[in-house]
Amino acid sequence: MNDYQIIFQKRAADYHYAMQQFPEARKHEFDNLFSGINFENDVHLLDVPSGGGYLRNYTPKNTKVTLGDFSEGFAIDEIQLVTPEKLSFESNTFDAVFSLSGMHHLKNVPQFIRECLRVTKTGGSFIFADVKKGTSVDVFLNEFVNTYNSLGHKGDFFLETSFEAFEDIQSCISICEYKEYPFQFATVSDMVTFFKLFFGLDKADDPTILHGIEQILGTKTTDKGIEVNWGLLLFQLKKA
Ligand SMILES: C[S@@+](CC[C@H](N)C(=O)[O-])C[C@H]1O[C@@H](n2cnc3c(N)ncnc32)[C@H](O)[C@@H]1O
Repeated sequence: MNDYQIIFQKRAADYHYAMQQFPEARKHEFDNLFSGINFENDVHLLDVPSGGGYLRNYTPKNTKVTLGDFSEGFAIDEIQLVTPEKLSFESNTFDAVFSLSGMHHLKNVPQFIRECLRVTKTGGSFIFADVKKGTSVDVFLNEFVNTYNSLGHKGDFFLETSFEAFEDIQSCISICEYKEYPFQFATVSDMVTFFKLFFGLDKADDPTILHGIEQILGTKTTDKGIEVNWGLLLFQLKKA
């Protein structure tokens, strides 16, 4: 078992609890992933790594979604335990494969991308969004979370140029863009509670968490509550 398997096994319960307590917090992040998908036909999707399967809550009811995660902490009930090196699905199975914020701890990202493309049907898409190197989200995770989560955080993040050396992958990329979508909360207290649980900030008190969010990410008060600036680099790959 590698370091991040152990870390996610320990973090899974609090992460999942945060997502259950504040199911709308990351609504824009999930919605954004779907912008290139036509749900009119019956489609079969794969979400990997799915965490607790949150993406499925944003798909139409008749959409079939298969869920897989790399960590035993999340792989319960219908969420299958899978390995990024060799996904346990037949080739050409899914109309679209999604991966949200789940690739920055992988040892071999190109190998996982090739696996995702293998299980995608010809003509289908593999869509992933993850942290962009050098952004405030990078600083928040690799500095603030790394300091205040006793398990630490070291992510290998992405750039538009990340796959230039991998011609087979680069040639499949049809969209690559940095997108901003805030996390949303009814109150400041909800926001701090979510961040504490979701990012495992066991070494920080509430004022420290609030200060970190405001100083590094930035917030905005709205008529519905408070928003936190967040953004990811989104890649869409087409399987020819
Ligand atoms: C930040 S969560 C994202 C989960 C979900 N896609 C979401 O957006 O809520 C990262 C996920 O990747 C999995 N993961 C990533 N790298 C891993 C590794 N090296 N070992 C074990 N699990 C890993 C974790 O189990 C976790 O579910």
